[in-house]
Amino acid sequence: MQLPKPLSSMFKNTLNKSIQYGAEILHNRIPYAHDNPYLDGIFAPQRQEHFSTQLKVEGQIPKELDGALMRIGPNPITVKNPKIYHWFTGDGMIHALRLKEGEAHWYKSQYVGADSVQKKLHRSVIPGKSRGVADPVNTNIINFAGKIWALVEAGAYPIEVNSELESKRHHLFENDDLDLPFTAHPHIDPDTGDIHAVCYDGLTHNKVFYLHIDVQGKLKNHVEIPVKHGPMVHDCAITESQVLILDLNVNFSVQSALKGSLLPYQWNPKHQARIGLLSFGGSAQDIRWYNIDPCFIFHTMNAYDLDTGNVVMDAVVHSKAMVHSIQGPIEDQDLRLERFVFEKGTGKVKRTILSDVKQEFPRINEAYTGRPYRYAYSISFGEFDDPYHVSSNSLLGHDLETTTIESYSFGENWVTGEAIFVEKEGAQAENEGWLMSYVHALDCGPSKVVILDAQHIKDGPIATIYLPVRVPVGFHCNWIDYRELKVI
Ligand SMILES: [Fe+2]
Repeated sequence: MQLPKPLSSMFKNTLNKSIQYGAEILHNRIPYAHDNPYLDGIFAPQRQEHFSTQLKVEGQIPKELDGALMRIGPNPITVKNPKIYHWFTGDGMIHALRLKEGEAHWYKSQYVGADSVQKKLHRSVIPGKSRGVADPVNTNIINFAGKIWALVEAGAYPIEVNSELESKRHHLFENDDLDLPFTAHPHIDPDTGDIHAVCYDGLTHNKVFYLHIDVQGKLKNHVEIPVKHGPMVHDCAITESQVLILDLNVNFSVQSALKGSLLPYQWNPKHQARIGLLSFGGSAQDIRWYNIDPCFIFHTMNAYDLDTGNVVMDAVVHSKAMVHSIQGPIEDQDLRLERFVFEKGTGKVKRTILSDVKQEFPRINEAYTGRPYRYAYSISFGEFDDPYHVSSNSLLGHDLETTTIESYSFGENWVTGEAIFVEKEGAQAENEGWLMSYVHALDCGPSKVVILDAQHIKDGPIATIYLPVRVPVGFHCNWIDYRELKVI
């Protein structure tokens, strides 16, 4: 049968859509995920939680490792409107690989029990009250005060999870009745074990909050810092004596909210970008602000005090961020690793480029947080402008003293997530330890976890653990040492 041309193409379109929809149902994919790259391909959510003890291992897992590599990220259960779904807002899922005595014991994935998630999954809500404008907790997972905490920015309380990934309670660590927001990027002082964090609240646009929480999880001090335009403050940095506050050019946007954005924050070149130095124990009036050119920083690498009174901060700097897309952060922008030196006497900032390779997820040996350091790690991006065409990347090891980079590529078909450093017991050198990451197949096959010797990055993995399923590309990763947990 020969249909008239317009009808023929309408018929073909309908048929194609039906076939596509059928294929999406068959593959347990969210229908019409092609409306949003963060619901498709390597980002696509898993449709269920997994548990497996059958894990193929190549190489030798270091026997000293006794814990789990935990990675958290968005894994939306349902999406009302894929066109306006924002990657940062998806329901949180934790992936964990349990290692002990040189063996891979299990891999597990489980949702973080925000109230909205528990309701969608027909599970009982967990104790405690959530807080803030939205409740998914999906951005970072840390071991603090002997417990595991899933974290998110913009207002919701952390959620405590146990070593089997079951959510236990909403709580701002060990503090009752504190109506304060938290962040996904606290920094732990390696000497005191205390947390320092700069936090913002999605509903409060004229101030951000510095929180100092002691090693027992109790709030020691908090400072309310006046700001303009509701800046998104994703991270901060600390030295031995002070915290650095990033007041930059991604701000709350009424326009974006009116467009229906689920995350109404957008590039605002008119905002005066500035970085503030606040001594521990100081007040908002004591902050020394340094104005800088418009930019955005998702992640700092480290910071430290110099004897001169100057302060050094290294960070991945985005030339701009969240300009157009209301779905996610991957769009046209420059990224580079920069060093800022804040001069005490002159009030000037000196900026130098440490590496112009496009990269993100900077990490260090955290025993050196806030202290002079030599080694750092990050992951490169071939391009960082199109979430539909993510290409393979490499793990980078920076030697900041020799200004050299040692890298390892996992091959054309693979993309690594954040690589974290785990120090060897009794390490004599800063870089004596392992790098570990989740590595994702670009063809959407099952993922793997790799372990590299941080002193021999270019030799590649000393161990590879093959997972039974695909882990969607997500956010932050940490090694949770089970020997440090008070509650198992
Ligand atoms: Fe982050």
